[in-house]
Amino acid sequence: MALESLVVRGGIPLHGEVQISGAKNAVLPILAACLLTREKCVIHNAPDLSDVGFMADILRSLGAEVIVGGSTLTITAKKVTGRGDYNLIRKMRGSICILGPLLGRLHKAKVSVPGGCVIGTRPINLHLKGMEALGAKVKTDSGYVIAEAKHLRGVDIFLGGRLGPTVLGTANVMMAATLAEGRTVIESAACEPEVVDLANFLIAMGAKIQGAGSPTITINGVKELFGAEHTVIPDRIEAATFGLAAVTTNGEVLVKGARADHLQAVLDKLKEAGGIVEQRSGGLLFRRGKSLKSVDVATQPYSGFPTDVQAQMMTLMTQVNGISIITERIFEARFMHAQELMRLGADISIEGPSAIVKGGRPLSGAPVMASDLRASAALVIAGLVARGTTQVNRIYHLDRGYEKIDQKLRKLGARIQRRPGE
Ligand code: EPZ
Repeated sequence: MALESLVVRGGIPLHGEVQISGAKNAVLPILAACLLTREKCVIHNAPDLSDVGFMADILRSLGAEVIVGGSTLTITAKKVTGRGDYNLIRKMRGSICILGPLLGRLHKAKVSVPGGCVIGTRPINLHLKGMEALGAKVKTDSGYVIAEAKHLRGVDIFLGGRLGPTVLGTANVMMAATLAEGRTVIESAACEPEVVDLANFLIAMGAKIQGAGSPTITINGVKELFGAEHTVIPDRIEAATFGLAAVTTNGEVLVKGARADHLQAVLDKLKEAGGIVEQRSGGLLFRRGKSLKSVDVATQPYSGFPTDVQAQMMTLMTQVNGISIITERIFEARFMHAQELMRLGADISIEGPSAIVKGGRPLSGAPVMASDLRASAALVIAGLVARGTTQVNRIYHLDRGYEKIDQKLRKLGARIQRRPGE
Protein backbone atom coordinates (compact mmCIF):
# COMPACT_ATOMS: atom_id res chain seq x y z
CA MET A 1 0.00 0.00 0.00
CA ALA A 2 1.21 3.49 -0.74
CA LEU A 3 2.62 5.13 2.34
CA GLU A 4 0.49 8.09 3.32
CA SER A 5 0.72 10.71 6.02
CA LEU A 6 -1.71 13.00 7.75
CA VAL A 7 -0.62 16.62 8.04
CA VAL A 8 -2.32 18.38 10.96
CA ARG A 9 -2.18 22.08 11.81
CA GLY A 10 -3.00 22.44 15.50
CA GLY A 11 -4.86 24.99 17.55
CA ILE A 12 -8.47 24.50 16.47
CA PRO A 13 -10.97 23.26 19.08
CA LEU A 14 -13.24 20.64 17.51
CA HIS A 15 -16.90 21.59 17.16
CA GLY A 16 -19.92 19.88 15.63
CA GLU A 17 -21.15 16.33 15.43
CA VAL A 18 -19.65 13.07 14.20
CA GLN A 19 -21.32 9.74 13.41
CA ILE A 20 -19.58 6.69 14.87
CA SER A 21 -19.18 3.70 12.55
CA GLY A 22 -19.79 0.02 13.33
CA ALA A 23 -17.35 -1.65 15.72
CA LYS A 24 -14.25 -3.14 14.10
CA ASN A 25 -13.76 -5.59 16.97
CA ALA A 26 -17.34 -6.83 16.65
CA VAL A 27 -17.57 -7.09 12.85
CA LEU A 28 -14.37 -9.17 12.43
CA PRO A 29 -15.52 -12.18 14.52
CA ILE A 30 -19.09 -11.74 13.22
CA LEU A 31 -17.84 -12.04 9.61
CA ALA A 32 -15.88 -15.15 10.61
CA ALA A 33 -19.04 -16.59 12.24
CA CYS A 34 -20.76 -16.57 8.80
CA LEU A 35 -18.57 -19.60 7.98
CA LEU A 36 -20.67 -21.63 10.44
CA THR A 37 -23.65 -21.85 8.07
CA ARG A 38 -24.16 -22.60 4.38
CA GLU A 39 -27.00 -20.08 4.32
CA LYS A 40 -26.89 -16.36 3.48
CA CYS A 41 -25.96 -13.89 6.24
CA VAL A 42 -26.53 -10.13 5.98
CA ILE A 43 -24.40 -7.85 8.18
CA HIS A 44 -25.39 -4.16 8.45
CA ASN A 45 -23.39 -1.18 9.76
CA ALA A 46 -20.06 -2.77 8.87
CA PRO A 47 -17.35 -0.08 9.03
CA ASP A 48 -15.40 0.69 5.83
CA LEU A 49 -11.96 -0.36 7.13
CA SER A 50 -9.01 -2.09 5.54
CA ASP A 51 -9.27 -4.84 8.19
CA VAL A 52 -12.86 -5.53 7.08
CA GLY A 53 -11.73 -5.70 3.45
CA PHE A 54 -9.00 -8.13 4.52
CA MET A 55 -11.47 -10.35 6.34
CA ALA A 56 -13.82 -10.33 3.32
CA ASP A 57 -10.91 -11.46 1.11
CA ILE A 58 -10.01 -14.18 3.61
CA LEU A 59 -13.59 -15.49 3.58
CA ARG A 60 -13.56 -15.46 -0.24
CA SER A 61 -10.29 -17.40 -0.24
CA LEU A 62 -12.05 -19.99 1.93
CA GLY A 63 -14.81 -20.38 -0.65
CA ALA A 64 -17.45 -17.97 0.65
CA GLU A 65 -19.23 -15.43 -1.53
CA VAL A 66 -18.98 -11.93 -0.04
CA ILE A 67 -20.93 -9.04 -1.58
CA VAL A 68 -20.24 -5.54 -0.31
CA GLY A 69 -23.09 -3.02 -0.61
CA GLY A 70 -21.96 0.11 1.25
CA SER A 71 -21.99 -0.78 4.94
CA THR A 72 -24.00 -3.97 4.30
CA LEU A 73 -22.06 -7.18 3.66
CA THR A 74 -23.80 -10.30 2.37
CA ILE A 75 -21.88 -13.53 3.04
CA THR A 76 -22.83 -16.98 1.76
CA ALA A 77 -20.48 -19.80 2.71
CA LYS A 78 -22.27 -22.57 0.81
CA LYS A 79 -19.08 -24.55 0.73
CA VAL A 80 -15.94 -23.91 2.72
CA THR A 81 -12.48 -25.26 2.08
CA GLY A 82 -9.96 -25.21 4.87
CA ARG A 83 -7.38 -23.70 2.54
CA GLY A 84 -7.40 -19.93 3.05
CA ASP A 85 -5.10 -17.38 1.47
CA TYR A 86 -2.29 -17.66 3.95
CA ASN A 87 -0.59 -14.60 2.68
CA LEU A 88 -3.63 -12.61 3.78
CA ILE A 89 -4.24 -14.58 6.99
CA ARG A 90 -0.65 -14.05 8.04
CA LYS A 91 -0.99 -10.27 7.62
CA MET A 92 -3.95 -9.66 9.87
CA ARG A 93 -3.89 -10.71 13.51
CA GLY A 94 -7.67 -10.55 13.81
CA SER A 95 -7.89 -13.39 11.25
CA ILE A 96 -7.22 -15.81 14.12
CA CYS A 97 -10.98 -15.69 14.68
CA ILE A 98 -11.61 -17.97 11.68
CA LEU A 99 -10.10 -20.81 13.74
CA GLY A 100 -13.24 -21.53 15.77
CA PRO A 101 -15.73 -21.35 12.86
CA LEU A 102 -13.56 -23.55 10.60
CA LEU A 103 -13.24 -26.14 13.35
CA GLY A 104 -16.99 -25.96 14.01
CA ARG A 105 -17.95 -26.28 10.33
CA LEU A 106 -15.24 -28.57 8.92
CA HIS A 107 -13.78 -30.14 12.07
CA LYS A 108 -10.45 -29.01 10.74
CA ALA A 109 -8.71 -25.68 10.46
CA LYS A 110 -5.40 -24.37 9.30
CA VAL A 111 -4.58 -20.77 10.20
CA SER A 112 -1.29 -18.96 10.33
CA VAL A 113 0.10 -18.16 13.75
CA PRO A 114 -0.62 -14.43 13.87
CA GLY A 115 2.50 -12.33 13.82
CA GLY A 116 3.21 -10.30 16.88
CA CYS A 117 2.65 -6.62 16.51
CA VAL A 118 4.09 -3.49 17.99
CA ILE A 119 2.00 -3.79 21.14
CA GLY A 120 3.22 -7.19 22.16
CA THR A 121 3.83 -10.82 21.31
CA ARG A 122 0.10 -11.64 21.01
CA PRO A 123 0.23 -15.35 22.00
CA ILE A 124 -2.66 -17.70 21.13
CA ASN A 125 -2.07 -20.41 23.74
CA LEU A 126 -5.55 -19.86 25.23
CA HIS A 127 -7.21 -20.20 21.81
CA LEU A 128 -5.42 -23.54 21.31
CA LYS A 129 -6.24 -24.67 24.86
CA GLY A 130 -9.91 -24.05 24.03
CA MET A 131 -9.81 -25.95 20.76
CA GLU A 132 -8.08 -28.93 22.40
CA ALA A 133 -10.59 -28.90 25.24
CA LEU A 134 -13.36 -29.26 22.65
CA GLY A 135 -11.62 -32.38 21.29
CA ALA A 136 -9.32 -31.07 18.59
CA LYS A 137 -5.77 -32.25 18.01
CA VAL A 138 -3.71 -29.09 17.57
CA LYS A 139 -0.21 -28.72 16.23
CA THR A 140 1.83 -25.83 14.93
CA ASP A 141 3.87 -26.49 11.83
CA SER A 142 5.99 -23.98 9.87
CA GLY A 143 4.07 -20.96 11.10
CA TYR A 144 0.64 -22.52 10.87
CA VAL A 145 -1.75 -23.85 13.46
CA ILE A 146 -3.45 -27.04 12.31
CA ALA A 147 -6.42 -28.24 14.33
CA GLU A 148 -8.44 -31.39 13.54
CA ALA A 149 -11.21 -33.09 15.47
CA LYS A 150 -13.11 -36.31 14.78
CA HIS A 151 -15.96 -34.60 16.50
CA LEU A 152 -16.34 -31.69 18.91
CA ARG A 153 -17.71 -32.33 22.38
CA GLY A 154 -18.92 -29.69 24.83
CA VAL A 155 -16.64 -29.11 27.82
CA ASP A 156 -16.23 -26.91 30.92
CA ILE A 157 -13.19 -24.77 30.27
CA PHE A 158 -11.37 -22.06 32.22
CA LEU A 159 -10.13 -19.63 29.56
CA GLY A 160 -8.43 -16.99 31.75
CA GLY A 161 -4.76 -16.24 31.12
CA ARG A 162 -2.18 -14.63 33.36
CA LEU A 163 -3.46 -11.22 32.23
CA GLY A 164 -7.14 -12.06 32.47
CA PRO A 165 -9.65 -13.07 29.77
CA THR A 166 -8.99 -13.25 26.03
CA VAL A 167 -11.48 -11.48 23.75
CA LEU A 168 -10.84 -13.36 20.50
CA GLY A 169 -10.07 -16.55 22.42
CA THR A 170 -13.56 -16.34 23.94
CA ALA A 171 -14.99 -15.66 20.48
CA ASN A 172 -13.22 -18.68 18.97
CA VAL A 173 -14.32 -21.13 21.67
CA MET A 174 -17.89 -19.78 21.65
CA MET A 175 -18.13 -20.15 17.85
CA ALA A 176 -16.72 -23.70 17.75
CA ALA A 177 -18.91 -24.74 20.71
CA THR A 178 -22.14 -23.75 18.90
CA LEU A 179 -21.82 -26.91 16.76
CA ALA A 180 -20.20 -29.19 19.35
CA GLU A 181 -22.14 -32.07 20.94
CA GLY A 182 -23.47 -31.15 24.35
CA ARG A 183 -22.85 -28.24 26.66
CA THR A 184 -19.79 -25.99 26.88
CA VAL A 185 -19.22 -23.64 29.81
CA ILE A 186 -16.53 -20.99 29.37
CA GLU A 187 -15.23 -19.68 32.71
CA SER A 188 -13.32 -16.39 32.82
CA ALA A 189 -14.84 -15.45 29.47
CA ALA A 190 -14.21 -11.95 28.10
CA CYS A 191 -17.14 -9.60 28.84
CA GLU A 192 -16.53 -7.01 26.10
CA PRO A 193 -19.64 -5.63 24.28
CA GLU A 194 -18.14 -7.03 21.06
CA VAL A 195 -18.36 -10.55 22.53
CA VAL A 196 -22.03 -9.89 23.37
CA ASP A 197 -22.66 -8.63 19.82
CA LEU A 198 -21.11 -11.82 18.39
CA ALA A 199 -23.21 -13.96 20.74
CA ASN A 200 -26.36 -12.12 19.65
CA PHE A 201 -25.54 -12.82 15.99
CA LEU A 202 -24.86 -16.51 16.75
CA ILE A 203 -28.18 -16.74 18.65
CA ALA A 204 -29.93 -15.21 15.60
CA MET A 205 -28.31 -18.04 13.58
CA GLY A 206 -29.92 -20.58 15.94
CA ALA A 207 -27.14 -21.06 18.49
CA LYS A 208 -28.06 -21.68 22.13
CA ILE A 209 -25.94 -19.26 24.21
CA GLN A 210 -26.47 -17.79 27.69
CA GLY A 211 -24.36 -15.49 29.81
CA ALA A 212 -22.54 -13.51 27.10
CA GLY A 213 -21.24 -10.32 28.73
CA SER A 214 -20.61 -12.17 31.99
CA PRO A 215 -17.49 -14.16 32.94
CA THR A 216 -19.45 -17.43 32.48
CA ILE A 217 -20.85 -18.24 29.04
CA THR A 218 -22.88 -21.44 28.46
CA ILE A 219 -23.29 -22.83 24.93
CA ASN A 220 -25.54 -25.81 24.19
CA GLY A 221 -24.42 -27.29 20.88
CA VAL A 222 -26.91 -27.61 18.01
CA LYS A 223 -26.82 -29.68 14.81
CA GLU A 224 -26.85 -26.80 12.36
CA LEU A 225 -26.85 -23.00 12.18
CA PHE A 226 -28.87 -20.93 9.72
CA GLY A 227 -28.54 -17.64 7.87
CA ALA A 228 -29.31 -14.48 9.83
CA GLU A 229 -29.33 -10.69 9.55
CA HIS A 230 -27.49 -8.49 12.08
CA THR A 231 -26.59 -4.86 12.70
CA VAL A 232 -23.15 -4.33 14.24
CA ILE A 233 -22.92 -2.24 17.43
CA PRO A 234 -21.26 1.19 17.25
CA ASP A 235 -17.51 1.30 17.84
CA ARG A 236 -17.01 2.33 21.49
CA ILE A 237 -13.27 2.86 20.93
CA GLU A 238 -13.86 5.24 18.02
CA ALA A 239 -16.47 7.03 20.17
CA ALA A 240 -13.99 7.37 23.05
CA THR A 241 -11.34 8.62 20.62
CA PHE A 242 -13.55 11.44 19.31
CA GLY A 243 -14.79 12.26 22.82
CA LEU A 244 -11.24 12.58 24.10
CA ALA A 245 -10.28 14.64 21.03
CA ALA A 246 -13.12 17.07 21.86
CA VAL A 247 -11.98 17.47 25.48
CA THR A 248 -8.27 17.65 24.58
CA THR A 249 -8.83 20.42 21.99
CA ASN A 250 -11.20 22.26 24.36
CA GLY A 251 -14.05 21.95 21.87
CA GLU A 252 -17.56 20.51 22.01
CA VAL A 253 -18.56 17.48 19.95
CA LEU A 254 -21.75 15.43 19.75
CA VAL A 255 -20.56 11.87 19.16
CA LYS A 256 -23.57 10.23 17.50
CA GLY A 257 -23.97 6.50 18.12
CA ALA A 258 -21.83 6.62 21.28
CA ARG A 259 -23.38 4.36 23.94
CA ALA A 260 -22.75 5.35 27.57
CA ASP A 261 -23.39 1.74 28.67
CA HIS A 262 -20.33 0.64 26.65
CA LEU A 263 -18.10 3.41 27.97
CA GLN A 264 -18.65 3.60 31.73
CA ALA A 265 -14.96 3.42 32.72
CA VAL A 266 -13.91 5.99 30.10
CA LEU A 267 -16.70 8.42 31.02
CA ASP A 268 -15.93 7.99 34.72
CA LYS A 269 -12.23 8.82 34.17
CA LEU A 270 -13.03 11.70 31.85
CA LYS A 271 -15.36 13.27 34.42
CA GLU A 272 -12.75 12.76 37.16
CA ALA A 273 -10.32 14.66 34.93
CA GLY A 274 -12.78 17.53 34.54
CA GLY A 275 -14.42 16.61 31.24
CA ILE A 276 -18.18 17.00 30.82
CA VAL A 277 -20.23 14.27 29.11
CA GLU A 278 -23.96 14.69 28.57
CA GLN A 279 -26.44 12.18 27.15
CA ARG A 280 -28.17 13.56 24.07
CA SER A 281 -30.73 11.85 21.83
CA GLY A 282 -28.65 9.58 19.63
CA GLY A 283 -25.29 10.14 21.25
CA LEU A 284 -23.02 11.73 23.83
CA LEU A 285 -21.93 15.39 24.00
CA PHE A 286 -18.29 15.80 25.08
CA ARG A 287 -16.64 19.05 26.22
CA ARG A 288 -14.11 20.32 28.71
CA GLY A 289 -15.30 21.68 32.06
CA LYS A 290 -13.84 24.74 33.75
CA SER A 291 -10.47 23.17 34.37
CA LEU A 292 -8.87 19.80 33.85
CA LYS A 293 -6.90 17.85 36.41
CA SER A 294 -4.46 14.98 36.08
CA VAL A 295 -5.77 11.50 36.87
CA ASP A 296 -4.22 8.05 37.22
CA VAL A 297 -5.40 5.31 34.84
CA ALA A 298 -4.79 1.55 34.73
CA THR A 299 -6.08 -0.52 31.83
CA GLN A 300 -8.12 -3.63 32.65
CA PRO A 301 -10.37 -6.16 30.96
CA TYR A 302 -13.95 -4.93 30.38
CA SER A 303 -15.66 -3.21 32.14
CA GLY A 304 -12.43 -1.59 33.32
CA PHE A 305 -10.62 1.15 31.43
CA PRO A 306 -9.96 -0.23 27.91
CA THR A 307 -6.38 -0.68 26.76
CA ASP A 308 -7.54 0.60 23.33
CA VAL A 309 -8.14 4.04 24.84
CA GLN A 310 -4.90 4.25 26.87
CA ALA A 311 -2.90 6.11 24.23
CA GLN A 312 -5.62 8.68 23.60
CA MET A 313 -5.90 9.31 27.36
CA MET A 314 -2.14 9.86 27.55
CA THR A 315 -2.39 12.63 24.97
CA LEU A 316 -5.06 14.35 27.07
CA MET A 317 -2.90 14.07 30.19
CA THR A 318 -0.01 15.85 28.43
CA GLN A 319 -2.28 18.90 28.30
CA VAL A 320 -3.22 18.88 31.96
CA ASN A 321 -1.17 20.54 34.71
CA GLY A 322 0.03 17.90 37.13
CA ILE A 323 1.42 14.40 37.12
CA SER A 324 -0.62 11.40 35.96
CA ILE A 325 0.35 7.74 36.03
CA ILE A 326 -0.92 5.57 33.19
CA THR A 327 -0.47 1.84 33.75
CA GLU A 328 -0.91 -0.67 30.92
CA ARG A 329 -1.87 -4.06 32.34
CA ILE A 330 -3.09 -5.82 29.20
CA PHE A 331 -0.22 -5.57 26.71
CA GLU A 332 3.45 -5.57 27.58
CA ALA A 333 4.57 -3.04 24.96
CA ARG A 334 1.84 -0.54 24.37
CA PHE A 335 3.69 2.74 24.96
CA MET A 336 5.03 3.33 21.41
CA HIS A 337 3.07 6.59 21.33
CA ALA A 338 4.91 7.90 24.43
CA GLN A 339 8.17 8.17 22.47
CA GLU A 340 6.44 10.08 19.69
CA LEU A 341 4.56 12.37 22.09
CA MET A 342 7.95 13.26 23.62
CA ARG A 343 9.10 14.34 20.14
CA LEU A 344 6.23 16.83 20.27
CA GLY A 345 7.52 18.14 23.60
CA ALA A 346 5.59 16.02 26.12
CA ASP A 347 7.33 15.15 29.38
CA ILE A 348 6.77 11.40 29.87
CA SER A 349 8.91 8.78 31.56
CA ILE A 350 8.26 5.05 31.35
CA GLU A 351 8.68 3.06 34.55
CA GLY A 352 7.93 -0.60 33.75
CA PRO A 353 4.20 -0.96 33.05
CA SER A 354 3.56 2.69 33.90
CA ALA A 355 4.03 5.96 32.06
CA ILE A 356 4.48 9.02 34.24
CA VAL A 357 3.13 12.08 32.43
CA LYS A 358 4.14 15.50 33.67
CA GLY A 359 1.43 17.47 31.88
CA GLY A 360 0.78 21.11 31.17
CA ARG A 361 3.53 21.91 28.65
CA PRO A 362 2.30 22.99 25.23
CA LEU A 363 3.17 20.61 22.41
CA SER A 364 4.88 21.78 19.25
CA GLY A 365 4.35 20.10 15.91
CA ALA A 366 6.88 17.73 14.35
CA PRO A 367 6.94 14.65 12.11
CA VAL A 368 5.93 11.55 14.12
CA MET A 369 5.55 7.88 13.28
CA ALA A 370 2.32 5.96 13.71
CA SER A 371 2.74 2.48 15.17
CA ASP A 372 -0.28 0.61 16.47
CA LEU A 373 -3.77 1.66 15.54
CA ARG A 374 -4.64 3.46 18.74
CA ALA A 375 -1.22 5.07 19.16
CA SER A 376 -1.75 6.61 15.72
CA ALA A 377 -5.05 8.12 16.87
CA ALA A 378 -3.33 9.55 19.95
CA LEU A 379 -0.72 11.23 17.72
CA VAL A 380 -3.43 12.77 15.53
CA ILE A 381 -5.11 14.21 18.63
CA ALA A 382 -1.73 15.53 19.77
CA GLY A 383 -1.32 17.19 16.37
CA LEU A 384 -4.71 18.86 16.84
CA VAL A 385 -3.44 20.66 19.95
CA ALA A 386 0.24 21.09 19.09
CA ARG A 387 1.44 24.48 17.93
CA GLY A 388 2.33 24.43 14.25
CA THR A 389 2.24 21.42 11.96
CA THR A 390 2.46 17.74 12.85
CA GLN A 391 2.94 15.09 10.18
CA VAL A 392 1.79 11.62 11.23
CA ASN A 393 3.49 9.08 8.97
CA ARG A 394 2.46 5.50 8.07
CA ILE A 395 -1.21 6.12 8.64
CA TYR A 396 -2.19 2.77 7.15
CA HIS A 397 -2.25 1.79 10.80
CA LEU A 398 -5.08 4.29 11.30
CA ASP A 399 -7.07 3.20 8.27
CA ARG A 400 -7.22 -0.32 9.70
CA GLY A 401 -9.47 0.82 12.52
CA TYR A 402 -10.88 4.29 11.87
CA GLU A 403 -13.23 4.90 8.96
CA LYS A 404 -12.33 8.13 7.15
CA ILE A 405 -10.86 9.72 10.28
CA ASP A 406 -9.46 12.73 8.41
CA GLN A 407 -12.82 13.48 6.77
CA LYS A 408 -14.64 13.16 10.10
CA LEU A 409 -12.12 15.46 11.82
CA ARG A 410 -12.25 18.03 8.97
CA LYS A 411 -16.02 18.14 9.41
CA LEU A 412 -15.35 19.08 13.06
CA GLY A 413 -13.14 21.97 11.97
CA ALA A 414 -9.73 20.32 12.10
CA ARG A 415 -7.08 21.44 9.62
CA ILE A 416 -5.96 18.00 8.51
CA GLN A 417 -4.89 16.76 5.09
CA ARG A 418 -3.95 13.29 3.81
CA ARG A 419 -0.70 13.40 1.80
CA PRO A 420 1.43 10.82 0.07
CA GLY A 421 4.26 10.58 2.54
CA GLU A 422 6.97 8.43 3.98
C1 EPZ B 1 -8.83 -7.87 21.13
O1 EPZ B 1 -7.59 -8.44 20.82
C2 EPZ B 1 -8.93 -6.60 20.31
N1 EPZ B 1 -8.84 -6.93 18.87
C3 EPZ B 1 -7.80 -5.63 20.69
O2 EPZ B 1 -8.01 -4.43 19.96
C4 EPZ B 1 -7.91 -5.33 22.18
O3 EPZ B 1 -6.87 -4.47 22.56
C5 EPZ B 1 -7.84 -6.64 22.97
O4 EPZ B 1 -8.90 -7.52 22.53
C6 EPZ B 1 -7.98 -6.44 24.46
O5 EPZ B 1 -9.19 -5.78 24.73
C7 EPZ B 1 -9.91 -7.46 18.25
O6 EPZ B 1 -10.94 -7.72 18.86
C8 EPZ B 1 -9.76 -7.71 16.79
P1 EPZ B 1 -6.84 -10.61 24.04
P2 EPZ B 1 -7.25 -9.95 21.33
O7 EPZ B 1 -6.78 -12.02 23.58
O8 EPZ B 1 -8.49 -10.74 21.46
C9 EPZ B 1 -3.05 -12.26 26.28
C10 EPZ B 1 -7.45 -2.65 18.58
O9 EPZ B 1 -6.69 -1.69 18.73
N2 EPZ B 1 -3.35 -13.54 25.60
O10 EPZ B 1 -8.05 -10.15 24.80
O11 EPZ B 1 -6.16 -10.46 20.47
C11 EPZ B 1 -2.64 -11.17 25.28
O12 EPZ B 1 -1.25 -11.26 25.00
C12 EPZ B 1 -7.00 -4.03 19.03
O13 EPZ B 1 -8.60 -2.61 18.08
C13 EPZ B 1 -2.64 -14.68 25.96
O14 EPZ B 1 -1.77 -14.63 26.83
O15 EPZ B 1 -6.67 -9.64 22.78
C14 EPZ B 1 -2.99 -9.92 26.04
O16 EPZ B 1 -1.95 -9.62 26.94
C15 EPZ B 1 -5.60 -4.02 19.60
N3 EPZ B 1 -2.91 -15.85 25.34
C16 EPZ B 1 -4.25 -10.31 26.84
O17 EPZ B 1 -4.24 -11.74 26.88
C17 EPZ B 1 -3.89 -15.95 24.37
O18 EPZ B 1 -4.11 -17.06 23.84
C18 EPZ B 1 -5.55 -9.86 26.20
O19 EPZ B 1 -5.52 -10.27 24.86
C19 EPZ B 1 -4.60 -14.78 24.01
C20 EPZ B 1 -4.33 -13.59 24.64
